[in-house]
Amino acid sequence: MKTIISRLIHSTPSSISKLNAFAVSINGRNFSTDSNKIDEPFKVEEAGTVNVPPPQPPTEKLLVLGGNGFVGSHVCREALNHGVPVASISRSGRSSLHDAWASNVIWYKGNLLSTESLKEALNGVTTVISCVGGFGSNATMYKINGTANINAIRAASDQGIKRFVYISAADFGVVNYLLQGYYEGKRAAETELLTRFPYGGIILRPGFIYGTRSVGSMKIPLGIVGSPMEMVFQHTRALTQIPLVGPLLTPPVNVTAVAKVAVRAAIDPVFPPGVIDVYGIQRYSEKKSK
Ligand SMILES: NC(=O)c1ccc[n+]([C@@H]2O[C@H](COP(=O)([O-])OP(=O)(O)OC[C@H]3O[C@@H](n4cnc5c(N)ncnc54)[C@H](OP(=O)(O)O)[C@@H]3O)[C@@H](O)[C@H]2O)c1
Repeated sequence: MKTIISRLIHSTPSSISKLNAFAVSINGRNFSTDSNKIDEPFKVEEAGTVNVPPPQPPTEKLLVLGGNGFVGSHVCREALNHGVPVASISRSGRSSLHDAWASNVIWYKGNLLSTESLKEALNGVTTVISCVGGFGSNATMYKINGTANINAIRAASDQGIKRFVYISAADFGVVNYLLQGYYEGKRAAETELLTRFPYGGIILRPGFIYGTRSVGSMKIPLGIVGSPMEMVFQHTRALTQIPLVGPLLTPPVNVTAVAKVAVRAAIDPVFPPGVIDVYGIQRYSEKKSK
């Protein structure tokens, strides 16, 4: 430093003028120390036009099996809210749904017990959610919960569909013995799903599902019972391990939570395959999707 200062003091006029003309260049702009030179003022360059790509068409198309039912109708609505095109198939088609969103669903009529029914509805479909199930004699329950869903799982797999979500049901201990056909059907469909869709098969096992059920133009608020029960049963998880009667304490879950998790499982390619119990449904429904 001393040497530099002494050199400056002893500089000749010519060397000073050289120093005056010392110029630096930062980021392509010239900053001149030459007092005779007036640096150019900053130029505000005109912003270029940014090309915004046109909105892409949705990559998913969802087929809801039983989209006119209690759970199915909430699933359709949730998927439409995500911008996913939705079709539904059931024996009665659109049936009695009067809500505005129902006009945005393509409704097919078909019985899943006949393997022909699904062909047209599966056209262009990338993901399926089955909300088909029901009660009756043991044989009927096995057919609706088991055979009908197994037919759909096989047809979807043959078509090369990547993801399939099945709304099954939690075990209810002693109730399983009374509703044998129902539970045997559910478990048979689950086995078929995990075999045919090892990477994209998701099974939701809720207990009692509450929410608003539409029957014709009437809305039945099942939440009046279900919501307080869900809060109470939150604290009895350990008791559900008690054989036979324990599962009766499985907390009920809101239909919107079931629909939210089902749709997320159907359209999120990294959603893990396998079985999700009621506590998993509650947890996933609280998580924000990306
Ligand atoms: N609600 C609950 O508390 C609860 C609890 C645990 C699990 N689950 C399960 O969740 C699923 C949905 O239940 P949910 O309460 O929404 O039942 P839901 O209202 O009775 O709906 C059942 C749906 O399945 C359709 N369906 C029945 N048999 C069919 C067939 N052979 N071919 C085509 N479609 C058929 C029905 O439409 P069509 O009559 O027009 O054919 C209806 O859309 C079921 O698997 C159920 O076991 C429900």
